[in-house]
Amino acid sequence: METQRVRVRIPRMHRRDFLADLARLSFLCSGVPNVWRVTGRPTLADDPFTLGVASGDPTSTSAVLWTRLAPSPLDPDGGMAGQRTAVGWEVAEDEAFSRVVRRGRYTAAPELGFSVHVDADGLQPDRPYFYRFTLPSGSSPVGRLRTMPPDGSLAPFRLAFASCQHYEQGLFTAYDHLANEDAVLVAHLGDYIYEYAGVETRVRQYATTEIRTLEHYRARYAQTKGDASLRAAHAAAAWIVTWDDHEVDNNYAGLVGENVMESEEQMRLRRAMAYQAWWEHQPVRVPRARRWSDLRIARALDWGGLARFWVLDTRQYRSDQPCGDGTQAVPCGDWADPSRTMLGEEQEQWLFEGLRASRAGWQILVNQLRIAPFDNAPGGDRRISMDQWSGYPAALDRLSGAIAAHARHRAIAITGDIHSNWVNELRARYDRPEAPVIGAEFVGTSISSGGDGRDASPGWNDDTRAENPHALWHNARRGYVICDFTPSEVRTHYRVVPFVTKPGAPVQTASSWRVQAGRPQIDRL
Ligand SMILES: [Fe+2]
Repeated sequence: METQRVRVRIPRMHRRDFLADLARLSFLCSGVPNVWRVTGRPTLADDPFTLGVASGDPTSTSAVLWTRLAPSPLDPDGGMAGQRTAVGWEVAEDEAFSRVVRRGRYTAAPELGFSVHVDADGLQPDRPYFYRFTLPSGSSPVGRLRTMPPDGSLAPFRLAFASCQHYEQGLFTAYDHLANEDAVLVAHLGDYIYEYAGVETRVRQYATTEIRTLEHYRARYAQTKGDASLRAAHAAAAWIVTWDDHEVDNNYAGLVGENVMESEEQMRLRRAMAYQAWWEHQPVRVPRARRWSDLRIARALDWGGLARFWVLDTRQYRSDQPCGDGTQAVPCGDWADPSRTMLGEEQEQWLFEGLRASRAGWQILVNQLRIAPFDNAPGGDRRISMDQWSGYPAALDRLSGAIAAHARHRAIAITGDIHSNWVNELRARYDRPEAPVIGAEFVGTSISSGGDGRDASPGWNDDTRAENPHALWHNARRGYVICDFTPSEVRTHYRVVPFVTKPGAPVQTASSWRVQAGRPQIDRL
């Protein structure tokens, strides 16, 4: 007799769902293997919420809520003793949590450093919310966020942006001031951590040597997040986070490390560990990767119809810096090779096609590296940075072309990396003074990298001013930048602190600027 085959369609279960179900099941049953057991009452020596809370990547109905359980933050597993732990979370309309609108549970696991990422949905557009995490031993600090407004809304908003927070080189006092700015969104443009080994003579010391392992990257984030000012800034608003080089290795490019001693396999491994630790510590709506070394973080976010944020990754896919990196006279080597790329082909197409299709009023490039080239050689010679967009002239031309064609006079680039403040006109090209202005670039200084800072770098003088007519202003203090967006204009305020090597620095506004929608001028206020 012939056996009849019955085809049963088994729905494909995502492994992540399977793990979550197993974790839920093991929470209820005994007799399951220890590895799946989840405790709701972990035995902890100390407060597990030492790293604070954060929220990020809001939409009009949701936001990512973040914490990481770490009663002993610098220990390899944060002091969690391997206990897979169920954490409660709550979102409320009021700070006292008397009107809770969403709540749930999340399993914090050792594989992901006991980090917690909750995508809390079902929220109302353009509303303030409060959130916290709970364990039987107590609750986390309370964080605040605002959901994005509904599609098409032109409601004004305040954005703050920051970058480059070398923990050893200075205190994060600027974040205390940023937390009081009433910004609804904070963009971080990278260098959230630095990978270097500790140096004893500094304001404070790193706990490890140069970080190369997952445990060390985790410890570096934990030490950085131990800063109360940083935690206050996270608790105050939702963040939009991207990365730059120091989240992995200084000036790495794709799979090429800084000193070229690491093989591609070593760089892939280092990226995997660094990218995983970044994901574990940031409130990002970035799907957990199947291969951490290839974590995709480029994404877009909408503030109603007023603004679209393009969160860029200028490290992972770029060609190697030409001519040995640094600042070089051009042309040199393969500098001008049209096949060289900053964003990689896929990200470039995503951005350019997105700019073409988007009807949002402002197109905000959440960008790491200075776009407008800075030539520091007087006369006809050009000496420019090989690490910034100026080291990738073909890619820069393609970007300028896309802005000119699709976002002229409504593109605002926000930029970090160079530990100094700059206001730059974005131009169609930079080798002809008559080339039209197509947008604005606001380069923000560091939170602490470089120490106390000064009013201007020595490289900013009458000669370099004449060489760089598109650069309107410069300052080399520490601080952050505020941008107030409305349908008709964006007003930008450069906030600076006079010192970071001792506590208590006041904040001042070094300069303010206005860009009007549809007009090329950047006016100083
Ligand atoms: Fe930096």
